[in-house]
Amino acid sequence: MKLVVGLAGASGSIYAARFLRALYEVEGESYLTASPAAIRIFSEEYETKVESAEDILSFVETKWKVKPKHKFHVRNFFDIGSDIASGSNRWDAMVVVPCSMKTVASLSHGLTENLIERAADVSLKERRRLIIVPRETPYNRIHLKNLLALDEAGAIILPASPGFYQMPKTLDDLGDFIAGRIFNLLGIEQNLYPKWLG
Ligand SMILES: Cc1cc2nc3c(=O)[nH]c(=O)nc-3n(C[C@H](O)[C@H](O)[C@H](O)COP(=O)(O)O)c2cc1C
Repeated sequence: MKLVVGLAGASGSIYAARFLRALYEVEGESYLTASPAAIRIFSEEYETKVESAEDILSFVETKWKVKPKHKFHVRNFFDIGSDIASGSNRWDAMVVVPCSMKTVASLSHGLTENLIERAADVSLKERRRLIIVPRETPYNRIHLKNLLALDEAGAIILPASPGFYQMPKTLDDLGDFIAGRIFNLLGIEQNLYPKWLG
């Protein structure tokens, strides 16, 4: 399993953090890139000082004492000449978690000014799975139209809307619900939340 993971600047750093924590336990490798807004919001929401995607990985490793089975390769958000800017490199799927309305707007219009946007655009053109986890509320009609355009282009929209029927006890449980649903779409076995048994 080789993934591209993009962290964009929406609220909901917990979804990124819990997804990365769970991914650490999966054999494989991923490319990781984070926008400046994502890094800033991560700092604010976790009341910590992170300045880079590397810092976010270190934070996750330390906070949850993960034993890394997964290898992350950090890529510079501004390096549109990076390896993951080209479809000549192969990856199985890309996840943008969380995803801002700004990045949704760029992706739905084919704008590729940074590495998240470029790698996501490559994922769509190469017909690779692209999972977008948008976070905004309420949505205006521009957001809705852009999300629909992305769905029509082949992306999967997985809103940051955790369910409550699994009786979450902690905020991490809510993060794990979304991480688990991303895993389901990636075809990775997961035990991140209790399954509904009927
Ligand atoms: C604390 C904070 C929270 C934000 N939350 C959201 C959000 O939930 N959804 C959203 O679309 N934008 C949100 N924004 C605005 C985006 O970060 C901003 O539009 C930024 O340009 C997104 O760029 P990026 O997608 O390249 O990271 C937030 C900004 C800040 C500072």
